[in-house]
Amino acid sequence: KSRGKPPQNPGAVLSWPSLSKQSTSRSSSLTPKGHGLVYSHQPTSMAERLAAAATLRAAASSGPLPAGRRAGPSSSAFFRSSSSSSPALRLVSLRAASSRPSQKAKSVGRGRSVRCMAAASDAAQLKAAREDIRELLNTTHCHPILVRLGWHDSGTYDKNINDWPERGGANGSLRFDVELKHGANAGLVNALKLMQPIKDKYPSITYADLFQLASATAIEEAGGPKIPMKYGRVDVTGPEQCPPEGKLPDAGPSAPADHLRLVFYRMGLDDKEIVALSGAHTLGRSRPERSGWGKPETKYTKNGPGAPGGQSWTAEWLKFDNSYFKEIKEKRDQDLLVLPTDAALFEDPAFKVYAEKYAADEEAFFKDYAEAHAKLSSLGAKFDPAEGFSLDD
Ligand code: HEM
Repeated sequence: KSRGKPPQNPGAVLSWPSLSKQSTSRSSSLTPKGHGLVYSHQPTSMAERLAAAATLRAAASSGPLPAGRRAGPSSSAFFRSSSSSSPALRLVSLRAASSRPSQKAKSVGRGRSVRCMAAASDAAQLKAAREDIRELLNTTHCHPILVRLGWHDSGTYDKNINDWPERGGANGSLRFDVELKHGANAGLVNALKLMQPIKDKYPSITYADLFQLASATAIEEAGGPKIPMKYGRVDVTGPEQCPPEGKLPDAGPSAPADHLRLVFYRMGLDDKEIVALSGAHTLGRSRPERSGWGKPETKYTKNGPGAPGGQSWTAEWLKFDNSYFKEIKEKRDQDLLVLPTDAALFEDPAFKVYAEKYAADEEAFFKDYAEAHAKLSSLGAKFDPAEGFSLDD
């Protein structure tokens, strides 16, 4: 359903005309009330009035913060009355009932202070952002790069490291320049540019959630399976928390199957998940000027949609289906790409069992892909609330 007509302005991957049009319509959700804060009684002293004003300003602020999280209720910081002699300033969360399935305002001390806890992201804003992402997909056909964005944020995870964020994974670190400049991430700055206006519009969601929301929405909108996603990922706060370079797989290692196992086992993923997830290459293209792989253009890519050029793995590279497995099995079309790591899926005996199955049975591929994608999207993530929450409730 995403295929539609080519965009009016092929190559305008970075234009998203619908966003500015929408930006006023949902602005009401960005009021302090929309941030989930309300005072349970009016502040009486000057100190309280000043504190109240500062808190509301912080909640309503929409300027970008490098930390990716604002001083509003999307932060898990708690607010408490600073004075024991004055009446406590009570902040309760409107979102406790509607958006945050598991967290409630909690009394501390002798009931004079109230801890205001909040999920890492606001569910209502995530849902609104999902609508904007759908619109963006329809107008720019950027499905593939959004999928790659989500995968490259989460795919740095190392299951052998316990501490967050040192263990890497889906924590929004890919928004920082230092990580965007890693060789494996060539071109993903374009995906961040697409996401930033949405992040700015919905300040109470984290980058980590936004990247994964965008990826799952892109798969679904391209005709793929519904991914059983959960949200509430906490963002890292600075570039010093980015993972070191070299965590993501190479496309042309000397022993591709061994390399895939080394990298994906480190993430806690198994052979079935390696093969299923590789099926995401049913979408998109490789560009010599980015990764160094692929042809400058083919008959399938020379007219876009989106910025023309590159080499795709499948003829209909904006449609999510099992054609990737059929094509890399046959290797019959010089205009279609087969990376050494793609070819390994039919060369390695254990991978081949799954690759053959997915080439023959799209339903089996969709089922396994959806499960593996959901797992990938949560690797290394710290959730708040700890169990995460779904947008389907
Ligand atoms: C198995 C190891 C993998 C390797 C070696 C690999 C390598 C690559 C390379 C070289 C590109 C081309 C980038 C460019 O030039 O713009 C690419 C693109 C892409 N990759 Fe992978 N990838 C792997 C796994 C995955 C996984 C697990 C996913 C998602 C679940 C994924 C999703 C994508 C998508 C959607 C694109 C197209 C991006 C676009 O068209 O802009 N890849 N990958």
